[in-house]
Amino acid sequence: MARTWKPRDEIVVTLLDHDANVTPWVLAARDAGIKVQYVRFRPEDCTLDLDDFRSKINSRTKLVAVGCASNATGGINPVRQIADWAHEAGALVFADAVHFAPHGLVDVKGLGVDFLACSAYKFFGPHIGVLWGKRELMESVEAYKVRPASNSLPSKWMTGTQSHESMAGALAAVDYLAGIGRTLAANSSLNRRQALTKAYDAIVPYERSLVTRLLGGLAEIPEIKVFGITNPARLNERVATISFTHERFTSAQLTERLGSRGIFAWHGNYYALNLSEQLGHEPHGMLRVGLVHYNTAAEVDRLLTELRQLTKT
Ligand SMILES: Cc1ncc(COP(=O)(O)O)c(C=O)c1O
Repeated sequence: MARTWKPRDEIVVTLLDHDANVTPWVLAARDAGIKVQYVRFRPEDCTLDLDDFRSKINSRTKLVAVGCASNATGGINPVRQIADWAHEAGALVFADAVHFAPHGLVDVKGLGVDFLACSAYKFFGPHIGVLWGKRELMESVEAYKVRPASNSLPSKWMTGTQSHESMAGALAAVDYLAGIGRTLAANSSLNRRQALTKAYDAIVPYERSLVTRLLGGLAEIPEIKVFGITNPARLNERVATISFTHERFTSAQLTERLGSRGIFAWHGNYYALNLSEQLGHEPHGMLRVGLVHYNTAAEVDRLLTELRQLTKT
């Protein structure tokens, strides 16, 4: 796509996104000699500044790259609204659903995007990337591929020997999620899409109950500051990923101590590098807890108990 960009064209990326959906575009823009517009986020709740977003899309915009959910602070972005603005301006939209997919039903038509990427290992499958694109774009964009590879879809974009075992694993992961939906609906004849919809109908409120519990508990532990949406009335705008800092312990210290007690968390910037820099968290970053549908309220309570003990003066 970058080969079609002309001087005076622009692209839009956000300061909230994982670097996967930022720097590759920035480098492509550099090679094409075009301008990059960076959309700010609101530090108070780490959500995108939508006025800023709107103002950065204009008739010169060729591409808008935005994440569906922040992998650092968990906020869900209003991708449909952003895609509508982009399309009014004649720009394409590339959505990064890597962090969103385990927490919410991906609906490319509903989101109105042109391309959407995710990684199967985030939705309980193996390490293989997934790219969806509108057929006419996947056909018209030129692929750098080997000559013997077919020019038809999807092989045009899947040149070389396929990772068949990963593809089988990705399919199994989708079937696992669909299986949850069929079990909950007690209806084994639901088609895959219906079953996935049922699964996420259950996963979303269940994860929200865990987030409510965790945020409530964290608010009672002194010296902890959560970054992202914490307002109980707005939990529908976030997924179950919670990042925080402690006034006296670095995120690495806390994560190591949790690890020694059998609780797996993560620390650092998780490649949401601009966000971490803007919040002034480099080099230590934040401690991130990621809850998914197989976590339990008892596990949240155990985490809170450990955190209370670890941070006691
Ligand atoms: C939002 C987001 N985008 C992109 C990536 C990168 O995906 P991968 O690990 O498959 O390279 C991640 C991984 O953490 C992510 O959370």
